[in-house]
Amino acid sequence: MTDGIVIRRFHDSDAEATHDVFYEAVRIGAATHYRETDLIDWAPTAEMPADWGSWLSGHFTVVAEVDARVAGFFMLEKSGYLNMAFVRPEYRRSGLAQKLYDAILAEARAGSMPRLTVWASRLARPFLRRNGWEFDPDPPPLDGHPVVTDDPEPLDYAMKLDLDPVS
Ligand SMILES: CC(C)(COP(=O)(O)OP(=O)(O)OC[C@H]1O[C@@H](n2cnc3c(N)ncnc32)[C@H](O)[C@@H]1OP(=O)(O)O)[C@@H](O)C(=O)NCCC(=O)NCCS
Repeated sequence: MTDGIVIRRFHDSDAEATHDVFYEAVRIGAATHYRETDLIDWAPTAEMPADWGSWLSGHFTVVAEVDARVAGFFMLEKSGYLNMAFVRPEYRRSGLAQKLYDAILAEARAGSMPRLTVWASRLARPFLRRNGWEFDPDPPPLDGHPVVTDDPEPLDYAMKLDLDPVS
């Protein structure tokens, strides 16, 4: 477990750092599980899109800071869709992702969200399974998902987590 992790809400000033995390997490962190062409489709450029910061601040976004450096971030939409889950490659399997996930789950419970959904990557799938998520036979329609591929193994998986109403 990595100590010295600070989990906090996203600030506009985190925009560049979170996009850097996204780019690294895909291009390097996911390289063990995807072809180069898939990685390029997923994260085409290190250049941050102009609306990246306002997009993340428009949703429930949490970042993990280690030694004052952004090491990961997760984003949950009001619909319960877990849209972003990324940690820098050196923080994979470190427990940092679990801390971000726990913050997202607490927000979902505080908002009495009945269900969370995701299109999970090949790396997020086992992580979410360990957190009780199941495969979703009837996912909410979302443009671009499942990602079309000639790869026999899917690039992403519809998963869901039904949340018991807070008693
Ligand atoms: C998804 C993610 C946040 C999960 O965090 P994590 O700390 O890696 O979580 P876990 O330790 O539970 O690892 C989950 C899986 O990632 C893969 N993985 C993690 N670290 C790895 C490493 N160093 N080498 C190879 N595979 C690795 C494994 O498949 C692992 O499953 P396993 O432990 O059953 O083998 C993180 O892996 C990540 O940022 N991945 C790249 C981007 C991505 O896929 N985001 C999800 C979008 S839906």
